[in-house]
Amino acid sequence: MFKALIAAALLSVTPQSDVPQLNENNIPEVIAAMTVEEKCALIIGGRAKDFNGIGFTNIGVEGAAGVINGIPRLGIPTVVLADGPAGLRISPTRKGETRTFYCTGYPIGSMLSSTWNLELVEEAGKSIGNEVLEYGVDVLLAPGANIHRNPLCGRNFEYYSEDPLLTGKVAAAMINGIESNGVGTSIKHFAVNSQEFNRLANNSILSERTLREIYLKNFEIAVKESQPWTIMTSYNFINGEHASESSRLLTDILRGEWGFEGAVMTDWSGGYDDAQIVRAGNEMIQPGSDSRFKKLLAAINDGSLSMADVDRAIERILKLVVKTPKFKGYVPSQTPDLEAHAKVCKKVADEGVVLLKNEKAALPVSREQEIALFGTTSYDFIAGGTGSGDVNRPYVVDLMTGLSNLGFKLEPEVDAFYKDYMAAEAIRCKRINGNNKWYIDRERAIEVIPVELIEKAAETADAAMITIGRVFGEGKDRDYYHSYCLSDREQELIDCVSKAFRAKGKTLTVILNVGGFVEMISWQDKADAVILCWQPGQEGGNTVASVLCGEVNPSGHLPSTMSTEYRLEPSFKNFPQAVADKPYNYSFYRHFTDRKLPLNTVKNIDYTNYEEGIYVGYRYFTTYAPEAIAYPFGYGLSYTTFDFKDMKVAAVEGGWNVTVTVQNTGKVAGKDVVQIYVKAPKGELDKPERELKAFAKTPMLAAGESCELTMYVSKESLASFNEKTNSWEVDNGKYTFVAAQDAMDNSLKVKVQVN
Ligand code: BGC
Repeated sequence: MFKALIAAALLSVTPQSDVPQLNENNIPEVIAAMTVEEKCALIIGGRAKDFNGIGFTNIGVEGAAGVINGIPRLGIPTVVLADGPAGLRISPTRKGETRTFYCTGYPIGSMLSSTWNLELVEEAGKSIGNEVLEYGVDVLLAPGANIHRNPLCGRNFEYYSEDPLLTGKVAAAMINGIESNGVGTSIKHFAVNSQEFNRLANNSILSERTLREIYLKNFEIAVKESQPWTIMTSYNFINGEHASESSRLLTDILRGEWGFEGAVMTDWSGGYDDAQIVRAGNEMIQPGSDSRFKKLLAAINDGSLSMADVDRAIERILKLVVKTPKFKGYVPSQTPDLEAHAKVCKKVADEGVVLLKNEKAALPVSREQEIALFGTTSYDFIAGGTGSGDVNRPYVVDLMTGLSNLGFKLEPEVDAFYKDYMAAEAIRCKRINGNNKWYIDRERAIEVIPVELIEKAAETADAAMITIGRVFGEGKDRDYYHSYCLSDREQELIDCVSKAFRAKGKTLTVILNVGGFVEMISWQDKADAVILCWQPGQEGGNTVASVLCGEVNPSGHLPSTMSTEYRLEPSFKNFPQAVADKPYNYSFYRHFTDRKLPLNTVKNIDYTNYEEGIYVGYRYFTTYAPEAIAYPFGYGLSYTTFDFKDMKVAAVEGGWNVTVTVQNTGKVAGKDVVQIYVKAPKGELDKPERELKAFAKTPMLAAGESCELTMYVSKESLASFNEKTNSWEVDNGKYTFVAAQDAMDNSLKVKVQVN
């Protein structure tokens, strides 16, 4: 019956002349003309119509994630919502069409933030937004802005950093870029969603100070600097209250304190109490279902949800609708310039590669050299992660192809071995992976190569390279043993290639083609150079080859700290892996049980204590455990060297301008990143050793060239959240401003008196 009601609500005739037709100025009249069923249909997404598994709809644009239902009678069009963040996720084919609709697969979030280049991120956003527009989508469900709290979170690849400032700034640049096309974004997942395990029912327990300074600050910065069209609430509970049902979060803080003007939607099937969701200020229940429609209608009819709350939600939804290309009658070309966008993809990836180690001047390698290319991933590069953050990209350039494109010779026997072996492995993996497009750790080729082949290659080739790959995605956190650590076979491969090539005075470079960090301490001494190329999007092999030969001088810097050992992570005891000293291969979905939530019984599953408080990432490591840092936050090498000097701090309106001169002191052109950290004086609240307050990337500096960078630090940004007074407070005293190359660099400092 309810299906019929929704259908009646939506299909009731085409535009009617006796009722108002939606425009920017008549929203109140349109609301007054709506039936209760129509209002419910607007709040609940398109689930009831034509749905092909969660996160895949056939309405509007095939393979999009959902819609806001249209009401033709009132001139309200169907608005299409589709995933990001690494590009637009829609189906590459459409029924009855011979054309294809591939979208550019851009680098993952963690790689975008590794560029520390906001202009470049905005450029990526512009080109992503153009595909959104030209493929007929109205709102991109991106960016992902949760905090890297633990390296094993299954969705870290979609997110930017462990630091809220870097996250917030990169997210704002991305939103501004996408929305410059006249399409919307939905920054997600609001908030404290840093674990996938039991994500629909996990209760994140944290102090108010931690919430404000770490897990909301990122969103606060993005909202204030980009005013996204929408925001998506997260699946989890926060201190016992579901994110989508929290009036304090959505009304008091988001709108009241930060001035958010857009609309809020749930994550897909997130939230429980539909009346409370709407009351709290979460306007859309996506993608909805017949039963949720029914529940909402019942709550309105029995008066437990007031019409005022419903109308406020409808008004915010309609304000969104009138901004969309769909409403404005835009006719999408269906032919975005994929070639131009592939160039943007490569340009952005080039700046996000992080050079972690480079000894014996192993890199760059001349193109005249012959490379012995090992590791199955070299031949099957990983462009991005799985789950909703996946993109149906037209191709992925692997490293073998990337090197060949630049004229490198590959050692022929190794090359032939892998081509043959990979063809066989592709069949095995396909059998396991099947057509499952969603929550899986994709099965990939297993490492294997005859030792004799390695030894023979060491005789003839000039240098060795091994790519290590990791892919994972939403719905599951990573497994310590199988994802974070290298497998025995990978360790053996590195060991064997290293010994064979070093015995001949030749070098080994390891390339990490991963969505998140892997353990490095046990093997990094065997490699002369290590490159973190993340999951660099569809042009991946070309990007890495450009870096290997020096055509691109690496300028990426880590957006999170790499620790020496997983057990030394500040959240180690309070993350799902801690309850399983054996690997787990299951995923909890308590959501689908009838029990009252949150359950709060099993630690790290039902609830997670954010016990480390504000001491996340480098805030913890620099304060309490510097010896446990393998590679600090902000770290990244270059083929040249840079000198920072002449640091000045000048008081200006509302804060300070920090000026630093950067000189390229090496022999080749390159770019570097200046990071401004502040250490607070001893005051009432404990403070981390340092906190990032500003950053800037230099333009390309020729050898010997200098530039002056000026970065603004506001006084407001020095504040901490005092739970006793429930307010942001700046202590008086002497603050130390540090201009650094990474979170451990202390060479350039200025003391500033704050009153
Ligand atoms: C994910 C969201 C995504 C949505 C729609 C959910 O499972 O958590 O990030 O936007 O699906 O596909």
